[in-house]
Amino acid sequence: MITMSHRLLRTCNKCWLSTLLWSLAGWLVFLQIYHTLFPSSTHLPEPQDVWQKESLNLFPDVYPDMMVDRPEMVSSQGKVDHPMKKVPTKLDANVSGVIATLRNKTRERAEEEAKEKAALKKLALLFPGSELSIDGSKNNISEKGFYYPGRVWRDVDGKPIQAHGGGVLYVAETRTFYWYGENKGGPTYHLSKRGTARVDVLGISCYSSKDLWTWKFEGLALKPEKKDKSSDLYLTNVVERPKVIYNERTKHYVMWMHIDNANYSKAAVGVAISTQPEGPFDYLGSKRPHSCDSRDMTIFKDDNGDAYIIYSSQTNSELHIGTLTEDYMDVVERGMKRILIKQHREAPAVFKHQNIYYMVTSGCTGWNPNSAEVHAAESMMGSWETLGDPCVGGDEEFRAFTFFSQGSFVLPLPGLPNIFIFLADRWRPANLRDSRYIWLPLTMDGPVDQPLDKSFKFPPWQRVSIHWQNRWKLPPGWDIPQRWRLL
Ligand code: GAL
Repeated sequence: MITMSHRLLRTCNKCWLSTLLWSLAGWLVFLQIYHTLFPSSTHLPEPQDVWQKESLNLFPDVYPDMMVDRPEMVSSQGKVDHPMKKVPTKLDANVSGVIATLRNKTRERAEEEAKEKAALKKLALLFPGSELSIDGSKNNISEKGFYYPGRVWRDVDGKPIQAHGGGVLYVAETRTFYWYGENKGGPTYHLSKRGTARVDVLGISCYSSKDLWTWKFEGLALKPEKKDKSSDLYLTNVVERPKVIYNERTKHYVMWMHIDNANYSKAAVGVAISTQPEGPFDYLGSKRPHSCDSRDMTIFKDDNGDAYIIYSSQTNSELHIGTLTEDYMDVVERGMKRILIKQHREAPAVFKHQNIYYMVTSGCTGWNPNSAEVHAAESMMGSWETLGDPCVGGDEEFRAFTFFSQGSFVLPLPGLPNIFIFLADRWRPANLRDSRYIWLPLTMDGPVDQPLDKSFKFPPWQRVSIHWQNRWKLPPGWDIPQRWRLL
């Protein structure tokens, strides 16, 4: 019995062993097959990746910078990963086409909205709301005297100043400044589809001030003509860029201005005189100086009493300089000088510093701003050199567009020999009456450090800078005349 049970036990042991061996072999074969079929579960692409890569394939034009062969999608062997190549069906193609169009539309709309937003932001920056005005009617000590270029500027009655394209006259006897400029306080309209934006001739305003900051409206120094259609000052004509100088010999204040018809083809200058700085000025008439067309213009009175007219001519392609007669009421026809030929400059503003004449000009782009340039000469009739763009500060775009303005005058200060104020207009062609004033410090920066190209001589002029400032104030002592300081 014992022997039988021993034999049975031995046979069962063999059985168990072979079962075990066969099972092991089976597992090995299974594992081998499994690894062949599924090399490594960690290399399996996540469904998410597949979707992303496929969608990137579908919208290469929407995501041009995210194509499938961008470096991070290339496998370590240098091959491009295409984990699940799907053959696109016709339906897929249609759907992707529709989605692509929709995405394009959404993108276009988003771009338009972004552009509109940027334009509005720029508009708000260039033309801040009227609640942020420089207000000469308020006695706010902490704000008094501060210029905020571009803000609405209110006179002592709280009304927005209307004196565009203007200039300032200093009357030393009364230590009073007079600001003359175009009254553009009417609606903007176009006479024809292609015509430029305009407002009717509403006269030339005059404001007075002792501190160059608080301005009192003195009324219209030159009134418009409302009935006589043949008058230069009739409503539908153009009266721009008025400037006033005083003639000691005749005791007259003499105003010169650009006179034109609505399509700017008359291209003339007009003259008016008054015995008082605030007017009323009597209009004497207009003419084409030196028988030439004349648009943007200014006048300049030298220390010795000689006075000059400077105007854009030959369809704005050059500037002309001529002397005024002794009474300043006419142009001397002989000896006109053509300068900056073919340079297409306008809006001239002349000033003198240490016996050198300087002139700031703009390019010719209508109401739209462009780059300023400064020119210098040793005599008004002498040869004029272009020194370059005087704008400093702000960002590049701001500088390239004269801080979004166009110059009209450079004002010397009685007590500061090396600082002037640059007066410019930030035109608003959609609503000209809301055009703003840009008053900025203009400094003479000392001898230039570059010799002249041809002669290796250092030029007699200085570097001129117009500095962008969001908020600025004149330094103390600016109004104390230099000759008084020396006493
Ligand atoms: C500018 C000129 C302005 C005004 C405007 C009309 O070139 O400087 O004074 O005439 O054109 O478009």
